[in-house]
Amino acid sequence: MTHPKSILVTGCAGFIGSNLVRQFHKEFPQTRIIGIDDFSSGRRDIVQRLSKEIGGKFVFFEYSILNVRRLEATFKKYKPEYVFHFAAIPRVSYSVEHPRETSEVNIVGTIALLEAAKNHATKRFIFSSSSSVYGGAKLLPTKESENLPNPQSPYGAQKYAIEPICRVFSRLYGLDTVSLRYFNAFGPWQYGDSAYSTVVSAWLEALYFPKHKKAFIEGDGNQSRDFCYVDNIVQANILAMRSKKPFHGEVFNIAHGERTTVNEVKRLIEKYTGRKLVLDRRPPRKGDVRHTHADISKARKWFGYKPTVSFDEGLKRTVAWFESRKK
Ligand SMILES: NC(=O)c1ccc[n+]([C@@H]2O[C@H](COP(=O)([O-])OP(=O)(O)OC[C@H]3O[C@@H](n4cnc5c(N)ncnc54)[C@H](O)[C@@H]3O)[C@@H](O)[C@H]2O)c1
Repeated sequence: MTHPKSILVTGCAGFIGSNLVRQFHKEFPQTRIIGIDDFSSGRRDIVQRLSKEIGGKFVFFEYSILNVRRLEATFKKYKPEYVFHFAAIPRVSYSVEHPRETSEVNIVGTIALLEAAKNHATKRFIFSSSSSVYGGAKLLPTKESENLPNPQSPYGAQKYAIEPICRVFSRLYGLDTVSLRYFNAFGPWQYGDSAYSTVVSAWLEALYFPKHKKAFIEGDGNQSRDFCYVDNIVQANILAMRSKKPFHGEVFNIAHGERTTVNEVKRLIEKYTGRKLVLDRRPPRKGDVRHTHADISKARKWFGYKPTVSFDEGLKRTVAWFESRKK
């Protein structure tokens, strides 16, 4: 594939977006990367670092994807060939408390972006959907075709709402779109001090920065998750961009394809850090899904997605990142 002249990455000050920008620049050093973020949860130091590492090929704008006038101006000037859309308020419990505010960003903001992309001949729009659209799949490993989405939170419903809208944009306007349903991402640049962190980053935060976080466990720890190292998610996005075949709004699970219990995560964290995790015991979270486990064969068949970093290796790299962090 020839290098795209320019791409747009929304949510580039966040966890997955910033990892994508860094990796994308390694693979396509000539491409200009336009980043947008309003810092609602993203971090200024992440953007400063990306600017330092990438230099002139990274152009950053601070504004909300709800700002249609600025979106229009950015698309007009830079004409991004591909849009990687990570910006969202991605917090399940926050969405339960703030259904309108989160719908505005996660639904209306995404449609604003789709509209700008179709107005400016973007080749493909890659949407970050979520395993939360399933709301507890009946069949494991979860296949896209066998499990009807049944979201249990406004956040899951918002992600699910966008998937058919992407298909409509493909059908009506010829904008190629694809939705990637990520499962339980973890890795470097996922800070553990928010109330919504995954167990991996929350426990590592508690071990390395005990002032920020106290570690706890909910239930018996035998619940399991299909934890997916962030590099695998980044690769899935880049492979989806490279695909010659149009997607027309197709939906794919992006995960590791294996599950690990929370107790096993604890054991491995203690092994790789050499530190003892002391956990407060809490009752199981209400409505929590017992297991997540994705079937990723559809993404493999369509665009060659194959997770290359195992949970174990990903955890070692994440521990190394926490060790290198100063604050
Ligand atoms: N992390 C996961 O496990 C996971 C799982 C499934 C899906 N996803 C999806 O992947 C995407 C990235 O997730 P993440 O974990 O990197 O989240 P994150 O919170 O680290 O990053 C999201 C970024 O979007 C920015 N943002 C929020 N609202 C914005 C707005 N109105 N305008 C511009 N920027 C805005 C935030 O400031 C932040 O930098 C999200 O869409 C999320 O829903 C994540």
